[in-house]
Amino acid sequence: MFESLKGKTVLITGASSGIGEATAKTYAEVTNGEISLILLARRFDKLKEVQKYIKTKLPNTKIVVQSIDLSQTDLILQWGDSNQELINKLDILVNNAGFAHGLKNIGDIPHSDVTNMINTNLTGLITLTQIVVKSFKFRNTGDVVNISSISGKDPYIGGAIYCLTKTAISTFSDVLRKEFKDTNVRIIEILPGLVQTEFASVRHDGDSLKAEKVYQIYEPLSSKDIAEGIIWSTSRPPNVQVAELMLLPTHQASMRDADMQR
Ligand SMILES: NC(=O)c1ccc[n+]([C@@H]2O[C@H](COP(=O)([O-])OP(=O)(O)OC[C@H]3O[C@@H](n4cnc5c(N)ncnc54)[C@H](OP(=O)(O)O)[C@@H]3O)[C@@H](O)[C@H]2O)c1
Repeated sequence: MFESLKGKTVLITGASSGIGEATAKTYAEVTNGEISLILLARRFDKLKEVQKYIKTKLPNTKIVVQSIDLSQTDLILQWGDSNQELINKLDILVNNAGFAHGLKNIGDIPHSDVTNMINTNLTGLITLTQIVVKSFKFRNTGDVVNISSISGKDPYIGGAIYCLTKTAISTFSDVLRKEFKDTNVRIIEILPGLVQTEFASVRHDGDSLKAEKVYQIYEPLSSKDIAEGIIWSTSRPPNVQVAELMLLPTHQASMRDADMQR
């Protein structure tokens, strides 16, 4: 089923935890290590742990880990300039890095939260995608996987900035798909519902009680559930484009439940 992924080169942002980490591990597992992974995030030590875990289980997996702060446009542009050879080998870009901070209503949102969420979740994703799609276009091949969220379709009180970054990712993905319609490049948007990761802890400044409560509303998805969706989408035959894939816990139908996170 995953034969088509063997030999591919995959770049995953936010691979130091949660969905990105699970995606890296699952790509390696389903290809039996016959894959090249480029893993980006800020925490180099965590990336090295992911690398070690995969290499221990599947030693033939090729893995490059690089620390980068994707909220910094200049750093992404520099990364692009110094990694052109690698970019020209990429088959799949998984734009996964992102976070939410706080649950303040409009009027009370710290400006630093506004800029940090927009810079990381949106500007970073746009900047990296612009660099990579040039090469995809030239080679007439490649998959762009954008991780948005149900929150972009169903924004909630206290989540204005996070939700708008996810709505914007949907818009960006739609336009990209239209612009690449006459090529073999596929634009895949994955919209997760509640997934148990470090996400809630990051949102609540490491407050583990608050973070745990988020995942007690109903049984959340695991990061592996989303990883499998990403891997399934990118392993479809070349004539199939999974344009949007929303994956929700069975007992989640909207983001209204997010009110319970406050
Ligand atoms: N969990 C959910 O319920 C849920 C639902 C819908 C969508 N999502 C989306 O899924 C994606 C992954 O989140 P997750 O749930 O897996 O959360 P997570 O466990 O907190 O992972 C977030 C990842 O993003 C990276 N990241 C954050 N800021 C970064 C920056 N400035 N530069 C580089 N990397 C950065 C983090 O790495 P470092 O800290 O090492 O930099 C980490 O690897 C996010 O886009 C999130 O919005 C999550």
